[in-house]
This record gives sequence, structure tokens and C-alpha cells, in this order.
Amino acid sequence: MVKKNSCVFISGAGTNLKALILNSRQYNFPINIKLVVSNKKNAKGLKYAKKYSIPFKILKTKDPFFEKKILNEIKKRKITFICLAGYMRILSKNFINSFKGKIINIHPSLLPKYKGMNTFKRILKNKEKLSGCTVHYVNNKLDSGKIINRKIFEVKNDDTIETLKVKTQRLEYRAFSEAIIKINF
Ligand code: GRF
Repeated sequence: MVKKNSCVFISGAGTNLKALILNSRQYNFPINIKLVVSNKKNAKGLKYAKKYSIPFKILKTKDPFFEKKILNEIKKRKITFICLAGYMRILSKNFINSFKGKIINIHPSLLPKYKGMNTFKRILKNKEKLSGCTVHYVNNKLDSGKIINRKIFEVKNDDTIETLKVKTQRLEYRAFSEAIIKINF
């Protein structure tokens, strides 16, 4: 199998990155992770890039050439697929258009419900009975691209922001990789 050269964008803990790296090491997984991009120099997830010897770039979003620099790196490494895994910045329209249909994101709710930030807080406030995670294509509207995969769990009365996070992320690790396998590259 010819694997797609891919890049993972992170801003934080990188636990989804870790799951993607481990799965990408399977011979029949469709992508290879050739680069990790972080917009935070202290992102904890960078430790996984280091541990598994994957090149990484820390790029400041304040830098006016931020996206240009990413595009150069991506070109240099012949990367054709991008996973946003807890990447907390919005990419420009130009950037998204130049990778149309080749950027996916993971979101901690059952989209189209609870787009944007603070999902767990809002889910609890609305006393939702079900929650989960969604993997979707990235388009120019926040958390609104075509859905590839979703996973659902039951919200219990005693759930808190913390327990919802744990339950959601446990599903995310599988949902992300399953979505990639589903894609017709
Ligand atoms: C995930 O829960 C994801 O849904 C959201 O940000 C979180 C990232 O977690 N977009 P991690 O950095 O992969 O641990």
C-alpha cells in the first residue's frame, strides 16, 4: 500500500496525535505522519513527535508568514493530507482552499450540535442524554464540513466536564483512525 504523506496539527496535549502515530505504524494504515505542526512551543503533544522521531515545526500564528511557512514545509515533504488534532486556531480561507477535501478535524461533540469551544460545559448545561465525537472535513465554516465518522456515548447524571472529556477522548482515538480508513484516497 502506498501511504499518503500526512501532517498533524496540534496545540495541546496531543493524545490524538499519539493514537494516530501508533496506528500509522501499522502496515495497512493509509497514512504516514511526516510532520507535526504546533502553534504553541510548549504544546505537550510535541513529546510524541520527539519520541517517535517525527519532524516537527513550531510556528507562531502571529508570524505574518505563518501559513506560507507551513505550506513550504508541507510541499518539501510531499504532504497531501492534513489532520487537525486539537489545533486551536482557524486556518485561512486560502489555506483551506488550497487543500480542499484534504483536511480533517476531530471535534468533541456530536456535530452539528455544539460547534466551537466549551462543548462539555454546554452539553451539561443543556442536560444532553447523548454525546460523543465527530471527525469531519474542514471547510470555511467552523466545524461544519462533511461528517466522516461519529461515535456516541450516554451522558450520565453525575458526569462532569472532566468525565465527559475522558469519555469523549477515549472514543476520539478510535474515531479518528476509523475516519482515515474510511476515506477514499
Ligand atoms: C480533543 O478532544 C479534540 O476533540 C479537540 O481538542 C482535543 C485535543 O486533545 N479538538 P489532544 O491534544 O489530542 O489530547
